[in-house]
Amino acid sequence: MKIELKNNKLFFEYNGLKKEIHPFWLRERVNGDSFVDKATKQRLFDPTKLKENIQINSMNLSNDFLEITFDDGVQTKLAIQNILKEFSNMSDIKYISKIKWDSSLKDFNNFEFNDNFFEEEEMYKALMSFYQYGFVIFKKVPTQNNFIVNFANSIGSIRRTNFGEFFNVKSKPNPNDLAYTSLPLAPHTDNPYRNPVPCIQILHCIENEVSGGYSTLVDGFTVTEQLKKDFPKYFKILSEIKVRFQFIDQSVVLENWAEMIQLDEFGEFKQVRFSPRLDFVPLMDKEKLELYYSARKKISELYNSDDYRIEFKLQPGDLLMMDNYRLLHGRTTYDANEGNRFLQGCYIDYDSTEGKLKHLKRKFNL
Ligand code: OGA
Ligand code: ZN
Repeated sequence: MKIELKNNKLFFEYNGLKKEIHPFWLRERVNGDSFVDKATKQRLFDPTKLKENIQINSMNLSNDFLEITFDDGVQTKLAIQNILKEFSNMSDIKYISKIKWDSSLKDFNNFEFNDNFFEEEEMYKALMSFYQYGFVIFKKVPTQNNFIVNFANSIGSIRRTNFGEFFNVKSKPNPNDLAYTSLPLAPHTDNPYRNPVPCIQILHCIENEVSGGYSTLVDGFTVTEQLKKDFPKYFKILSEIKVRFQFIDQSVVLENWAEMIQLDEFGEFKQVRFSPRLDFVPLMDKEKLELYYSARKKISELYNSDDYRIEFKLQPGDLLMMDNYRLLHGRTTYDANEGNRFLQGCYIDYDSTEGKLKHLKRKFNL
């Protein structure tokens, strides 16, 4: 990536291609106290109100700076570093490489909580680990007074749902969700019936006195890649057909149509949804349904296979934060007569963790 000046025009060269940078693009980026508010870094001018055909009167390029005078009389000095940064994808969270894992994953990173944790470099490491593996476990997180709410709001803002700001996961009479029983929960993603689906789920263990009730996790990214490789037809149909996910209780009907494997605009992994008690496949041709059902059976087999699942027991104070677009989670059955098992849960959105990660990166110059 290179920047070059020729006849009052600025060019950038990238991957062997040379292109001119539009003068307006540079004019929008003028800095200095009368153009950008010092405290908020927000523009003090409205670029949509500027004349359209802004030209460059003169320009001077040194190693570190670009000095420009525009034909509306405005002068500015731009740091080359900042211009180059805009061409780099490296600040984007998507470019933190995902580390695929399966049941052989051992010794995953735990981070011990302390009072100033959210502003420490350790939190940056925890968030990086979260983006790499799709989950992270915090130890010794206070269990009193619904501390999960403080925890979540110290990273970003809680995503409230009809289950409340947070929810108590324990076996209770007349449950409106199987999570609130002592039944086993096969690997699933949460709330596929919402639009948008909550991005990040937090489960905080308050009590765990039973001998069962192990937590399970599966990397949906690993499984999707495996399916794509071994069963391309299944991968294709699961990423094409939108099914209806549904949640119904006394006070609400929630529905969303979406693919079980959702790809982004580049055909890359974006999100999985899997909750076979809540999905309704549309009525399609018999042959297509035949293929769809085989595909769903196969992916279910993979999600439930011992090859991909890790299993561990949450201790009081442990807080599991997981990517609900990438991972599936579940639990083994337990006997409620043995004692209490009590988790608290809530959701937060990606912009929370992204914002926090970028803030800590800036703060510690990482
Ligand atoms: C949930 C859930 C797992 C557990 O509440 O969404 O999956 O360990 N709970 O109880
Ligand atoms: Zn769940």
